[in-house]
Amino acid sequence: MTSAKPNLKEILSQALAGRWAVPHFNISDMAMLKGLIEAAAETRAPIMIGTSEGESDFLGRRAAMALVKAIRKELGLSIFINADHCHSMATAKAAIDAGYDSVHIDLSKLPLEENIAATKEVVGYALAKSPMISVEGEVGYLVTDSSQVYKQAITVPKESLAKVEEAVRFVEETAVDRLAPAVGTLHGIAANVPNIDIERVHAISKALRKTILVLHGGSGALDEQIKKAIAAGIANVHFSTDIRLAYTAALRQSLAEHPDETTPYKLLAPVVLAVKTKAMEKIKLLGAAGRV
Ligand code: G3H
Ligand code: ZN
Repeated sequence: MTSAKPNLKEILSQALAGRWAVPHFNISDMAMLKGLIEAAAETRAPIMIGTSEGESDFLGRRAAMALVKAIRKELGLSIFINADHCHSMATAKAAIDAGYDSVHIDLSKLPLEENIAATKEVVGYALAKSPMISVEGEVGYLVTDSSQVYKQAITVPKESLAKVEEAVRFVEETAVDRLAPAVGTLHGIAANVPNIDIERVHAISKALRKTILVLHGGSGALDEQIKKAIAAGIANVHFSTDIRLAYTAALRQSLAEHPDETTPYKLLAPVVLAVKTKAMEKIKLLGAAGRV
C-alpha cells in the first residue's frame, strides 16, 4: 500500500512544526526551472516555484502550471507553483483559473481595509475552486519593488513593517493560509545588509500560531538572520535575485567562452548547473533537505 504524498498545505504545516522552511524560487524560463528541479531532486526537498505577474505573462500561466504539475507527477517531486505578488484581483484570479497550487495576493501598499477586503475575495474565489489552494496575503510592505542590485544603501522605514495587531486582524478577517509580514528584508540586494526584526517575527508567530509566515526578500539577507527568523516562526522563504544573478553570470560566461556555439541547450548547461548549485545552498540553509 502506498501512502499519498503530503500536499502543499501539509508540507508547510510540517515545516512550521519542525522549525524549518519551504524554499520558494522564482522562474523566468525552462533552464531556471530545470536547475531548481535538479536541486530539489538531489536534496529531496519540497520547493515552491514562483511566477510573478511579469514572469507569468512571459511564460503563460497555463503552460507554467502544466510544466510544474507534469514534473511533480513524472518525477514524484514535491514541487508546487505559486502566483507570486499578484497586485490585482484579475491576476490572482487568472492564476487560480489556470490551476495554480497557490496564489499570493499582494495589496500591501493599499490601506489595510482595502487590502483585507480584496484578499478576502481572493480567499473565497480560491476556496470555491479547491480547498487545496494555499492563499498568501501581505501586511506591511517591502520598500524595494523588483529583483535588482542597488548601488546605494537602503533604509527600511519603521512604518513599512507589519504591526502585530494588524497582522492578527488581517488573518482573522481574510482567513489566508499564509501571511507575508514585512519584517525588515528588501526585494533585491542593497549595498547594506538588511536587518530582520526577529522580535517582530516572534511576536507575530506567537499571536498567529498556525498561520504560515512567509519571508520575502531572501536574497541579500544574512544566513544567520534567516536561520533566526525560521527559529522565530518563518516557514516559507522567497529567493529570486540570488538565482537570477547565478543564472545571468553563468550565461554571460558561457556565451563568452563559446562565441561560435549556436545550440541553446549546450550554452545553457552551465546555467542550469549554476542555478542548481545556488538553489541547493538555499535549500540546505532553510533545513529543507531530506524532508520528502
Ligand atoms: O517574491 C520574491 C522574493 O521576495 C524575492 O526576493 O529577490 O530579494 O530574493 P529577493
Ligand atoms: Zn517577494
